[in-house]
Amino acid sequence: MRAGPLMKSLGFSSEVSVESVAAFFPLPFSTKIVREGLAELVVPETGETQATTRLPAFYNPLSKPSRDLAVIVTGAYFSGRGCKLAAEPLAGTGARIIRLLLETGVVSEGVAGDISKWAVRMAEINAERNGLSGRLRVEHMDANLLLSKLAVTGRAEYVDIDPFGSPVRFLENGFRATERRGLIGISATDLAALSGSSRRTALWKYGLTLFKTNFFKETAIRALAGVAVSTASRLSLGAEPVLALAYRHFIRIFLKVDRGKSRAYQKRTQVRYLKHCKECLNTSVLNDLTEWEERCSVCASPNALLGPLWTGRLADEGLIEKILSSGFSSDPTYSEVLRVVGRLAEEIEDVPWSFQLSEVSRRAKTSPPKTRHVIERLKEAGYRASITHFDATSIKTDAPADVLTKIVGELAQKG
Ligand SMILES: C[S@@+](CC[C@H](N)C(=O)[O-])C[C@H]1O[C@@H](n2cnc3c(N)ncnc32)[C@H](O)[C@@H]1O
Ligand SMILES: [Zn+2]
Repeated sequence: MRAGPLMKSLGFSSEVSVESVAAFFPLPFSTKIVREGLAELVVPETGETQATTRLPAFYNPLSKPSRDLAVIVTGAYFSGRGCKLAAEPLAGTGARIIRLLLETGVVSEGVAGDISKWAVRMAEINAERNGLSGRLRVEHMDANLLLSKLAVTGRAEYVDIDPFGSPVRFLENGFRATERRGLIGISATDLAALSGSSRRTALWKYGLTLFKTNFFKETAIRALAGVAVSTASRLSLGAEPVLALAYRHFIRIFLKVDRGKSRAYQKRTQVRYLKHCKECLNTSVLNDLTEWEERCSVCASPNALLGPLWTGRLADEGLIEKILSSGFSSDPTYSEVLRVVGRLAEEIEDVPWSFQLSEVSRRAKTSPPKTRHVIERLKEAGYRASITHFDATSIKTDAPADVLTKIVGELAQKG
């Protein structure tokens, strides 16, 4: 086991076993052992309460799907070429990086960091417990410092940013630390800001003009993706989501990262504003702000400006196919997230908004019809339409809002 700065500061050399250190300096809180994927982890005992930020070291069992997703996406993205180094600068008890090393079959080495000394201590214990002493280095360090260090001393092919709340202050160094043709995975749980419920936070934290729409989960994904792509472009990097989704309490976006001013420009041009009518739901992408119109072209109500948001695709078809045809697809560990990835594969790609059928039917003065029936009718009428992965009662379609409202009204009349 390689000793982190905490251990070194306690005077231990890198050869000293962490188990013996733990026996010498027992952890000042009770622990339990959990199994997650192939990992066996020592984590803080939370009693009746769920994991909270007040714990001395963080492990949230509810984030297992987020970690499952990191395993299957990384495994598929790097299959055939391998990932020499994966970095997790906000690692908590190490569950994610340990699972990446044990389960992907592609990650050779890892570096993990955390600001909490107890988290670092537990990540070290967990690395040892899972036989990864020679493959995982654990650092007691601020995430931005660790990422900057990697940017200078040797970038990681995969970087995973999994903070409490917003990832925004780690994005720039995250991109700097990501190897070219590499992958960065980003989580956010501050959905109030990103979905437009908290407009002030959206503005001061992200520089976004948002408000709550009937497609607020999609707004949250596209808002974070837009901020990430813009951050990368400032560093002359072209970043593009290869898989992005909203599930339960979190958003997760994986972006492939490549070098080059023209790539940076090409990706950045897909971060645009939407024009949205709250009255009739008429929505369109503005190529630039000269296309802005004060009033809705359908109902003449005032338009609202939303964004800037990533308006490109949220998933790479090839990567999804690789995931769904990989060994992960038959492993029950990943079945929950595979269902979500399967639904994501069905979504139409080039419409950066969606419609909540309850909102559409309210405008059609009817009760909501079945999602499946609306999709069928839209297709019969020559439009493209699909489900969305984040809401069973929302649809995506290239049909204008007024056409959709008419179809929903007609379906209700048919009974
Ligand atoms: C959501 S938890 C990480 C959970 C972990 N990624 C997992 O999947 O189990 C966020 C972690 O970031 C750590 N943290 C907060 N601020 C930090 C900073 N500035 N630098 C490094 N770690 C930090 C916290 O101690 C906490 O362990
Ligand atoms: Zn309108």
